[in-house]
Amino acid sequence: MLVFVTGASGYIGGAIAATLVRAGHRVRGLVRAPAKAAAVAACGIVPVIGTLDHAPLLAAEAGAADATINAADSDHADAVATLLAACAGRRLLHTSGISLHSDDARGERGETIHDETTSAPPHPDKAARAAIDASILAAAARGEAFAVIRNPLIYGDALGPPAASVQLPALAATARRLGRARHVGPGRNVWSYAALTDIVTLYRMLLARGERGLFYAEYGEADFATLTGAIAKALGQAPPLAWSIEEAASEWGEQRARHTYGSNCRVRARRARALGWQPRGESPEAWIARVIKP
Ligand SMILES: NC(=O)c1ccc[n+]([C@@H]2O[C@H](COP(=O)([O-])OP(=O)(O)OC[C@H]3O[C@@H](n4cnc5c(N)ncnc54)[C@H](OP(=O)(O)O)[C@@H]3O)[C@@H](O)[C@H]2O)c1
Repeated sequence: MLVFVTGASGYIGGAIAATLVRAGHRVRGLVRAPAKAAAVAACGIVPVIGTLDHAPLLAAEAGAADATINAADSDHADAVATLLAACAGRRLLHTSGISLHSDDARGERGETIHDETTSAPPHPDKAARAAIDASILAAAARGEAFAVIRNPLIYGDALGPPAASVQLPALAATARRLGRARHVGPGRNVWSYAALTDIVTLYRMLLARGERGLFYAEYGEADFATLTGAIAKALGQAPPLAWSIEEAASEWGEQRARHTYGSNCRVRARRARALGWQPRGESPEAWIARVIKP
C-alpha cells in the first residue's frame, strides 16, 4: 500500500509511518522542517517537504496514495477539508484526541465516561476540533472509508524519527526544574491512557481493514496524583504538590492546564476492542520508572 502520512517527523505520525515502512508499505511523509527530513528518510519514509497550509501539495499526495493518515495537527480544519476531497474513494485516518471531552474539573475527579455510543457536547474550547471530527464522520456515514481516532494520553519511546510525547515529559520537566512535581488541585482528575506501541497497532488494524467512523483508544486510566507521584519517585523527589489552575496555567499555558492536566478525559475503546485490538504495552508508571531520570 502507498500511504501518505502528515506529521511524519512527529511522535504519533513518525511512529506510524516508520512502522508501516517496516511492515513493507511505501510511505511518503509530510515534513514541515527541512532539517528533520534526514531523520525521516533514515526510517525509510520518503520526505515531502511542506506544511498543512499547502493545499495543492496535500491534494496531490493524498490523491496519489491508497491511504492517508493525518497525524500532524488535530485542529487544522483547512487541511482536513482538503484531505476529505482528495481521499474520496480512498482511505483516511484522522488523529483526534480525547481532550475534546475536557470538563474543566481543576483536579477534582469526574465520573463521566465516553465511548463511541455516547454523544456529549464538547467543551466550548474544543468545539472547533469536534466540528472537524464531525466533518470526517459525516463522510464516513456516506460510505467513505474514513475514520477518526480519538487518542488518550500517549506515552512510550519514539518508534520512528526522534520525538517525544508532549504530556508526561512536560510534567517531568517541570518537576526537574522546580525540584517537586506538580498536579492541578488535588490531582484526582483521571485521564485514559495508552502506550504508543498499542496506538500504532490500532492505526495499522484500522488501515488494513478500511474501517470507518469513530474510534476511541485506551488501555487504562490514572489520576494525575498517581502519574506525578510516579514522576516524583523516578526523580527521587518528595511527593508532588498541588497547584491552583492559575499557577498551572502560568507553567503550561491556559489550554493545557485546564484541558490536559486539570481535566477528566475518560473513555472506553469499545469499537477497537470489539475488532480484536488488545493493548498490551507497559503501563505509564512502568514507562516513567524506566525512562524518567533525574
Ligand atoms: N501525543 C499525544 O498523547 C496526543 C494525544 C491525543 C491527541 N494528540 C494530537 O495529535 C496530534 C499529533 O500529536 P503528536 O504528539 O504526534 O505531536 P508532535 O510530536 O508535535 O507531532 C506533530 C508533527 O506534525 C508536524 N506539524 C504540526 N503542524 C504542522 C503543519 N501545520 N504543517 C506541517 N506539519 C505540521 C510537526 O512538525 P514540526 O516537527 O515541524 O513541529 C510534527 O512533526 C496533535 O494535534 C495532538 O494534539 C496527541
